[in-house]
Amino acid sequence: MHRALDRDSDVAGVLITSPTPYGTCADVSEIARLCHDRGLPLLVDEAWGAHLPFHERLPTWAMDAGADLCVVSVHKMGAGLEQGSVFHQQGDLVDPTFLAACADMLSTTSPNVLLWAAIDGWRRQMVEHGHEVLDAALQVADDVRERIAKIDGLTALRDELIGPEASHELDELKVLVDVSGLGISGYQAADWLRAHRAVDVGLSDHRRIEAQLSLADDPGTSDVLLDALTGLARSAGELPAPRSVELPSPEALDTEAVMLPRDAFFASVEDVPLYAAVGRICAEQVTPYPPGIPALLPGERITGEVVEYLATGVAAGMVLPDPADPQLGTVRVVA
Ligand SMILES: Cc1ncc(COP(=O)(O)O)c(C=O)c1O
Repeated sequence: MHRALDRDSDVAGVLITSPTPYGTCADVSEIARLCHDRGLPLLVDEAWGAHLPFHERLPTWAMDAGADLCVVSVHKMGAGLEQGSVFHQQGDLVDPTFLAACADMLSTTSPNVLLWAAIDGWRRQMVEHGHEVLDAALQVADDVRERIAKIDGLTALRDELIGPEASHELDELKVLVDVSGLGISGYQAADWLRAHRAVDVGLSDHRRIEAQLSLADDPGTSDVLLDALTGLARSAGELPAPRSVELPSPEALDTEAVMLPRDAFFASVEDVPLYAAVGRICAEQVTPYPPGIPALLPGERITGEVVEYLATGVAAGMVLPDPADPQLGTVRVVA
């Protein structure tokens, strides 16, 4: 992080995503310290962290870690109504009046009272009973992990996610399960669970699925999950061999930004076949879900490695909701 900050004297602030949709978390306190040493504000996309302030076993809340601003989706881990996002602000590096003006520009003049009531109801429930209900949910998560460990071919990940090259803290309500021991991909596992057991997982990728537990779960719902996973393990042998995904290195995903995103997005554009786009400047956002973090943004130079990753990913079942052609037969580039 400090190398990235030292590299560019024009940095105006830092935006990070923590927790990620996998529940892995950055060392937000240390990043806040590095930012504040340089007088820069730290903004945290804490979409997955609505519950963090209310239980000590959960990762540190961005505000407690010293961030200047965090944006939280109450409808994710807070189990609120969809679109119930809020932001928290502290300190004087972000001007609250300017922030309110920005929010005003983006928000509707007709706020939905149900949404506001749901946010307020959640706030009250957390203040009064948050610790107790999250404690129960965390115990369900512990039990789910123990029971998954007994299913051949499945590994519930935890310790391997925490470490210097991995996550600083982990949200244990996100039970990430490696299914590669069954000889199938996470995409195939998610499809099977939906089709055969009506169980929707929080996310799936080339080798994992993630069971998203929340304060709404109890031993009854975890039994449904475990039963479905047991069925998956039994049926996995009947599924076809998974397509492999060419994963790029983290450095290869750090593509060069050669135009401002705004300029590329509003430029004259054309749609070209995916492999012909190598070397061209991307004019759209291409975001694999998961992790929900763009592999390409408008203004970035498209590389062969990223194209290979996206092409093999889509063939294996990766979801790309953003691009004009979600199957990525073509990609939109600056003309
Ligand atoms: C990391 C992250 N940030 C932001 C969002 C979007 O948040 P919202 O649903 O409040 O628009 C998502 C949605 O999945 C997300 O995963």
